[in-house]
Amino acid sequence: MKSYQLNQIMLLWGIAPVVGLSSSTTTCPGSSLTHLNVSLLRERIAEGRVYQQPNFFSQQQIDDILAEIVQLKQDGVFAPSGLSNTARGAQQAFGSQDRSVCVVPWWSEMLLQNNNTVSPVSMLLQQLRLQLADVLDRPTMSDPTLAHECYYSWSGKGSFLPRHMDERHEELKGPKGWLLPSRRSLSWLVYLSDENWTLEKNGGALRSFPQQTPPQQPAQHDGNLQVGWLLRQRKAVYLNSWFLLSGSNEPHCILYTVEGNELRYLTRPWLAESLQGTSVAEFLNRMRDQDSSGLQTLFLDPDDARDFALLENRSAWDRGELPEGSIIEDICPTRGFLVVFDSVMLPHQVEVIKEGNRIALAGWFHEQTQEFPVDLFAQT
Ligand SMILES: *[C@@H]1O[C@H](CO)[C@@H](O)[C@H](O)[C@H]1NC(C)=O
Ligand SMILES: *[C@@H]1O[C@H](CO)[C@@H](O)[C@H](O)[C@H]1NC(C)=O
Ligand SMILES: *[C@@H]1O[C@H](CO)[C@@H](O)[C@H](O)[C@H]1NC(C)=O
Ligand SMILES: *[C@@H]1O[C@H](CO)[C@@H](O)[C@H](O)[C@H]1NC(C)=O
Repeated sequence: MKSYQLNQIMLLWGIAPVVGLSSSTTTCPGSSLTHLNVSLLRERIAEGRVYQQPNFFSQQQIDDILAEIVQLKQDGVFAPSGLSNTARGAQQAFGSQDRSVCVVPWWSEMLLQNNNTVSPVSMLLQQLRLQLADVLDRPTMSDPTLAHECYYSWSGKGSFLPRHMDERHEELKGPKGWLLPSRRSLSWLVYLSDENWTLEKNGGALRSFPQQTPPQQPAQHDGNLQVGWLLRQRKAVYLNSWFLLSGSNEPHCILYTVEGNELRYLTRPWLAESLQGTSVAEFLNRMRDQDSSGLQTLFLDPDDARDFALLENRSAWDRGELPEGSIIEDICPTRGFLVVFDSVMLPHQVEVIKEGNRIALAGWFHEQTQEFPVDLFAQT
């Protein structure tokens, strides 16, 4: 199955536009218009927490955006939306209280610079993307041809969003995970909610679940995205989907941690085909429980099996449990505040709105999907 995917991807990549990174050289963190606190930003993102910054937009910019949003609402362009990656899929029944969203009309034109009349707001967002690419060392995020997303969001009294992740490892997304040229890298929002918003009066907190004692390891290692934690050992766990055993040209999956400059493999390599229809998450859940008692079916060391937790543990969350090892950090959707967090690392939800309108300009900056090891092509 994977070799079938490979062929498709090779085709796709054959026609994909060449990544132009030259645009990233135009940013200079020191002289930026966005005034990010770079050291704080780096620290918060590395810890898998939310970075917040007040007064991202000027009063004039806020007024202009709100005027555009009101116009778009009058034009009926907003549509109800729960989650783009909800577990319930199409089975949601939307009501008038649900969040509604609308793609920002000038976004793609502006990304590809088809429009010479650039508004200050769109300039600021481009600068934000380029600066984040630079200071967080995510170079492909500066490529304007990736599917960076941007939307307006409007939620009234009674609406909320259940806990979710904005992005996950390609292997965990099912068959189409590897076919997409890019993936969400950073989630960002600038809030435009009613003035003087408080969590007590208005509710609507962005409730995030960072680890209590985060290891400060990045969400990816060598292109392999994080899928979980070793909780007590305080390590990020990465999944390599392109692990080659000697004597086989079939790519295997394997979990590992990074300790100093060394990789430590936590599991035996397994073939994606061997899952036979169960999801990778269900498979890892089963193996963790089984190997915790000392079986070593997949995990090499029972202590690691017991210590392992998936970033996204759907079945436990559906039973009302909090993400293992996490604490709750509530963020107030205060007008003018920018928030940024890693799309892969941080479980989050939106608390019920008690009063008022919670409005945001929001989006995801993308990074390129992991490239396949060249030696795979050489052998096939
Ligand atoms: C950046 O954040 C750190 C940590 O909160 C703070 O100590 C520092 O003063 C901030 N720097 C600026 C320029 O605001
Ligand atoms: C170009 O951008 C400006 C400012 O955002 C907008 O008013 C104008 O309609 C855009 N032009 C086109 C052709 O989309
Ligand atoms: C928000 O608070 C400020 C300062 O207390 C006040 O001047 C303003 O009228 C308030 N705005 C609203 C919409 O309540
Ligand atoms: C998911 O959470 C449940 C309950 O906390 C736990 O028993 C299970 O081992 C977890 N699985 C993984 C892989 O994190």
